[in-house]
Amino acid sequence: MDHACRPCQIDAARLSLLLGPAQCRFTVETLRECSSTSTLLLERARQGAPSGALLVADQQTAGRGRRGRSWLSSPEAGLTFSLLWHIPGDMARLAGLSLAVGVAVARSLEACGVAGVGLKWPNDILLDGGKVGGILIELEATPGGMLAVIGIGLNLQMPAVGAEELQEFLHRPAALAQRLSPVPERHQLLAQLLLDLAAVLDDFSATGFPALRSEWQARHVWQDRQVRLLNGGLLDREGICLGADADGALLLLTANGVERCLSGDLSLQVA
Ligand code: BTN
Repeated sequence: MDHACRPCQIDAARLSLLLGPAQCRFTVETLRECSSTSTLLLERARQGAPSGALLVADQQTAGRGRRGRSWLSSPEAGLTFSLLWHIPGDMARLAGLSLAVGVAVARSLEACGVAGVGLKWPNDILLDGGKVGGILIELEATPGGMLAVIGIGLNLQMPAVGAEELQEFLHRPAALAQRLSPVPERHQLLAQLLLDLAAVLDDFSATGFPALRSEWQARHVWQDRQVRLLNGGLLDREGICLGADADGALLLLTANGVERCLSGDLSLQVA
C-alpha cells in the first residue's frame, strides 16, 4: 500500500478491546503522521480535552525530547504517543511525576517479557546501558488542578541514527529487539502501557511519589555510583548517587554532604 495512504498502525477499536473495562478511561486518537503528539495534545488540553485523551502517531516530523532535543521516530521502529492526565494539586506536588511514569513503563516492559529494564533520573528508560525510551512531561496549572501531557517514545527496533545525531545523545540508543524476538505486538504493548500508566497515575494522584519510590530505586541503574551532574553541558556537581528522595529529587552525596537536585535542565553522566 502507498505509504501516504495507509492507515495508522494502531487501530483504535482493537486497542480499546485490549483495554477491557479500562477503555472508558481513555479517548484514543491515532494519526499516521503529525509534528509531535505532545505539541498537539497540549493544544487539545488547552481546548478542554478530557483526562485520558491519547494521541498515537506512527511518525512525528518534529518530535521533541527534553532540554530542546529532538526525538526521532519512524513507523516501523518505534511506538510514539502522548497521554493527557488531570492530576489534583499544584506544581510542587508533581515533581516526581516523570519518575512515577518511568516505573509504569518499566512494569509494562517487564510484563511483556523484557528483563533488565533500568531507570535513570529523571526520565530515561535503559536497556543494556542504552536508551530504549524517553519520557517528556509537560504541565499546565488550571484552577481545578494540573494538566499533565505525558509523552513517551519507545524504540522497538534500533533507530537509524547518523554519527552526528549520535553525538547529541547522552546515551547510545537501545531497542526492545535486542532482547525480544519478535518484539511485542504494538497494540498489546500499548494496551499494557496504558493500563500500567492508569494504575501508577491513580496511585500518584492519591499519595504522590513516595508509594512508588522503592520500585523506582530497585530499577535505578546508577545507585551508589560516582556520578557527575551537568547543567547546560557544564559540570554542576559530582558525588555518589543515592537515588531519588520522596519528592523525586536526585540525592547526591558530595563533599558538602547530601545535596538534593531538583528536576530541571540537569543531566547525569557516569564519572
Ligand atoms: C527524552 O528522552 O528526551 C524524552 C523523549 C520523549 C519523546 C516522546 S515521543 C512522543 C512524545 N511526543 C514528542 O514530541 N515527544 C514525546
